[in-house]
Amino acid sequence: LRSPGGGGLMDYTGYFTAALARLRDERRYRVFADLERMAGRFPHAVWHSPEGPRSVVIWCSNDYLGMGQHPKVVGAMVETATRMGTGAGGTRNIAGTNHPLVELERELADLHRKEAALVFTSGYISNETGISTLARQMPNCLILSDAWNHNSMIEGVRQAHCEKQIFRHNDMAHLEQLLASADPGRPKLIVFESLYSMDGDTAPVNRICDLAERYGAMTYVDEVHAVGMYGPHGGGISERDGATGRIDVIEGTLAKAFGCLGGYIAGSHALIDTVRSYAPGFIFTTALPPAVCAAATAAIRHLKTSQWERERHQDRAARTKAVLAAAALPVMTSPTHIVPVFVGDPERCKEASDLLLAEHGIYIQPINYPTVPRGTERLRITPSPYHDDVLINALAEALVDVWQRLGLPLKERALAAE
Ligand SMILES: Cc1ncc(COP(=O)(O)O)c(C=O)c1O
Repeated sequence: LRSPGGGGLMDYTGYFTAALARLRDERRYRVFADLERMAGRFPHAVWHSPEGPRSVVIWCSNDYLGMGQHPKVVGAMVETATRMGTGAGGTRNIAGTNHPLVELERELADLHRKEAALVFTSGYISNETGISTLARQMPNCLILSDAWNHNSMIEGVRQAHCEKQIFRHNDMAHLEQLLASADPGRPKLIVFESLYSMDGDTAPVNRICDLAERYGAMTYVDEVHAVGMYGPHGGGISERDGATGRIDVIEGTLAKAFGCLGGYIAGSHALIDTVRSYAPGFIFTTALPPAVCAAATAAIRHLKTSQWERERHQDRAARTKAVLAAAALPVMTSPTHIVPVFVGDPERCKEASDLLLAEHGIYIQPINYPTVPRGTERLRITPSPYHDDVLINALAEALVDVWQRLGLPLKERALAAE
């Protein structure tokens, strides 16, 4: 193997084939399903399989509430693109601060009852550049980070180039121990998620705020898997728990419950202005297109008042958990809308996903390492308001069939074996 620039001395392609072989050896090589969602018919979609197009049902989308097909959201996007064109035309500084973006930031600040908000091109970027920029402005900052934080937060912490301490997941005694042993005069930033998306558990937001107040720390919460879905206006777990005013920075995405694309942070004027002025991931990239901003604003506004999506979402998640559990499937305990089903082996997890798609027309992506720890591989199911009883029953039947074909333990057998 020789790459064009290699001149015969170097085997550049070899580096990449070796890298890919490592992933295949570890059963971590990812294969994407080529899907075409159908607006107005969620969760039905077309799968462009190797044998040609097939009708399937998606059971793992993070467009949790189906807002990506909502007429108000689609309408706002089409109308704005028709009126203002497609791209933003530049970075925010050059020509990218379009009016729908300004309106979106106002809407987000209002959603979280903060003075200001700042939009980024993704939730990933908002964490990566937001956390690092904030920490860098605080001399000798100590970051305290939950062990289960998402990769975007881990990258933000790394790029802050300051000291970090990892507290055991949701372990308040450990967090307190770390806070108590830090210099009281040192700036401290606690970063955590409100809802951990692979297990579906939530953070004790108020208890973290209690500790932050006691030890003089700042709080930064990732509400990516909660905004739109929790709280009377969709302000997330912090709104549901009455803690919005106690959190310094609320970070979220426009790409999951709001059905669009982009990320944001909300906080005080000075904090947001600092990130706007110093964050490379904000400054040196093209702004979100006006049509995307208008669509996101339409989704946020709708979910501020409509309870139907939130209530139906919770109802569908509860129903799915109950039906799968009644079928003896190993549903992992989750107090939220996430329904993880335990597999515990990367190959079987991939095989289960492949069989579901090929034999039952059900798409559920396998969740393997490094997204979850080895040995805890799972199928992560995300029911939406549009998954009706017929679809839920069909899912349970398909899963039982796959479990039996792969010899995976059903609940009674798993318990008997313990
Ligand atoms: C907890 C968490 N934070 C941030 C992100 C990144 O958000 P986005 O998909 O908008 O980039 C994700 C992505 O799935 C996530 O799970």
